[in-house]
Amino acid sequence: VTVYLDHAATTPMRPEAVEAMVALLSERFGNPSGSHAVAREANKSLEEARDIVAACLGARPGEVVFTGGGTEADNLAILGVHALRPGAVVCTAIEHHAVLHACAAVDGRVAPVLPSGVVDLDRLADLLGPDVTVVSVMLANNEVGTVEPLDDVARLVRERAPRAVLHTDAVQAFPWLDVASLAATADLVAVSAHKFGGPKGVGALVVRDGVKVAPIIHGGGQERDRRSGTHNVAGIAAMAAAMQATVADREATVARVAPLRDRLADGLLAAVPDSAETGDRATKVAGNCHLSFAGVESEALLVLLDGDGICASAGSACTSGALEPSHVLTAMGLPRRRALGSLRLSLGTTTSAADVDAALAAVPAAVARLREGEGG
Ligand SMILES: Cc1ncc(COP(=O)(O)O)c(C=O)c1O
Repeated sequence: VTVYLDHAATTPMRPEAVEAMVALLSERFGNPSGSHAVAREANKSLEEARDIVAACLGARPGEVVFTGGGTEADNLAILGVHALRPGAVVCTAIEHHAVLHACAAVDGRVAPVLPSGVVDLDRLADLLGPDVTVVSVMLANNEVGTVEPLDDVARLVRERAPRAVLHTDAVQAFPWLDVASLAATADLVAVSAHKFGGPKGVGALVVRDGVKVAPIIHGGGQERDRRSGTHNVAGIAAMAAAMQATVADREATVARVAPLRDRLADGLLAAVPDSAETGDRATKVAGNCHLSFAGVESEALLVLLDGDGICASAGSACTSGALEPSHVLTAMGLPRRRALGSLRLSLGTTTSAADVDAALAAVPAAVARLREGEGG
């Protein structure tokens, strides 16, 4: 049996989303930019999806720009605004690479975070000024699940960088948090369908009325000239269905999954010597269990867990043959020894108590095996 504990990487599609997608891939296949009956049908589906996505994100339909995923939405936000308002760009050190690298492409400034993973508001304030035109702070982090204090950030930005627009990457937040209200202060909000039961390669960027973005993809002028290219109507409709389902059962999911996560994290901390939890659980999304085990290499641990049928992930990425700790854990000040032994178990709507039991049995045994190997 496969125990899937990698929902932060991607989620299984919700049945509602599959159903919506299949209908548009088959009978309602039209190009929504056309004007005949078949095109109009597709356009109707597209605009219905836009209404749903807008409502779920607390936006107006005209503020929703459909994109080819979260990465594109983040790039459109940062580069699209920067192109029209050249100036300094600021993001936090724990952003997803979609934001971090887009900021780096325009020589952005990086605000440090506290050991908890929460942005250091004092240091952020120091980086803000009248020259700043874009500030990007994620709503929830993908590795450690930390929720960022967006209202405090917005207050600082309005006060110290009055020319700046505030972008938030809400890709990991959407499954767990009421993004419509928590991101209400942001000018731009990015989401990605495959993190909440929709298909991969579809996302959206909310661009509030009055905020202008230059397109990063040029062509036929779809999405009111903000994102060209024939719409992925099936994917967009599936995203809307997944969004609606997510919003409908989000509270119940959080109430069910948070105790499972707590049992998993507490159980592993108790069973594995020299283990630690990353971040402060009180400020993490319900599905995130992130731990570190001193003296263990994440990659080796993942291989053993995979052998036991457990799909998990680590913060570390293997670049050029050398194991490097993730930029998130480094920014949080985790010692290298710990950062290299990190494990992310991310729960979701399909996670069961049996999945947690399986991980509680497999992880301590795998860590012990690796440590024995090292000792002998
Ligand atoms: C926080 C965050 N932002 C952006 C992305 C990128 O989204 P996508 O996979 O749709 O390109 C991800 C996905 O891993 C993410 O976790």
